[in-house]
Amino acid sequence: MGWQEKFERECLKIPGQHILEIGITGSGKTQGLYWILDGLTHSSNETIVWFDTGKSSEFLTLALFKPLNVMIPETFEISILLNERSCDELHDIHISQFDDPRLIWLNLDPNKINVLSLYPYIHDPETYAKIFSAIFKSLIYLAHDAHLDYVTPLSIFFDEFHVVAPAQGHGEEGVGKVGSIIQLNIEKLRSLKVRFVATTQGWFKIRKGVRSSFNWLLVRRGGYFSNDQPKLQRFNSLFQSLKNDEAVIVYPSRVFSDVMHLPLYPNGEEFGRVRYRSFAFEKFTRGNNFLDLKNKI
Ligand SMILES: Nc1ncnc2c1ncn2[C@@H]1O[C@H](COP(=O)(O)OP(=O)(O)O)[C@@H](O)[C@H]1O
Ligand SMILES: [Mg+2]
Repeated sequence: MGWQEKFERECLKIPGQHILEIGITGSGKTQGLYWILDGLTHSSNETIVWFDTGKSSEFLTLALFKPLNVMIPETFEISILLNERSCDELHDIHISQFDDPRLIWLNLDPNKINVLSLYPYIHDPETYAKIFSAIFKSLIYLAHDAHLDYVTPLSIFFDEFHVVAPAQGHGEEGVGKVGSIIQLNIEKLRSLKVRFVATTQGWFKIRKGVRSSFNWLLVRRGGYFSNDQPKLQRFNSLFQSLKNDEAVIVYPSRVFSDVMHLPLYPNGEEFGRVRYRSFAFEKFTRGNNFLDLKNKI
């Protein structure tokens, strides 16, 4: 059996198998997420949630695979300007709004890729910590109480996972609470058929109790391991030399694949432009700003 076939059979087709992709900036991580998502949409029937980072119109590429349900907070705006040829290549993009971020989990569309655009509108760590704690807490309660049966198995794509689950000394104040919620529940989520597909710029950057729950790793250039992964640590120099289109899959046993070449998908910007508007100035002057969303929780 080939490496990729093994990955498909033992990981993609099995709900709840968390995957962490590790590599420095520019090593191909976002491209790796597209590849995993492409694989999931072909070899499983999982519902997909993609946390939008707001970078470089990245999520437009997802519309190559399935229609999108882009969820934004009420009173905010998003504009999506597609190039002419993209309209033929891409599936439909639908925009919906939510007022309480805890309830996004009850409004997912199992037939679309659910893109959650929330981070692009948040500019301070206090709001971030509060909202993301609430989102992950509600995910756990709802999944546990079987309210998410309509969308499980579920895969949650989260780029730059160290922002929500930072190792000690790496995160913003207050964000540690989000990491502790994830740490306490990441194994439970696996058994509830909820998986994270996450990326990070460094193994060390993620909270120890969280990174150890990622059984499957996709290592890109600069993936660097410490002595909590002795089998991998010996190969740091191999990982250091990977090219942009190269990756290594690490299996739960910590056996790993040959160096594989992954496909290149178009960048989001090749399809068009996404802009986020929060009307901050008008709202601040009227005393009605993003705090409204925060205070709902
Ligand atoms: N499979 C690939 N084949 C060829 N080039 C790639 C591939 N993956 C990534 N690249 C190149 O590397 C660049 C950075 O990739 P990206 O996924 O944005 O990295 P990261 O998310 O780690 O910053 C891409 O714009 C592309 O030029
Ligand atoms: Mg990226």
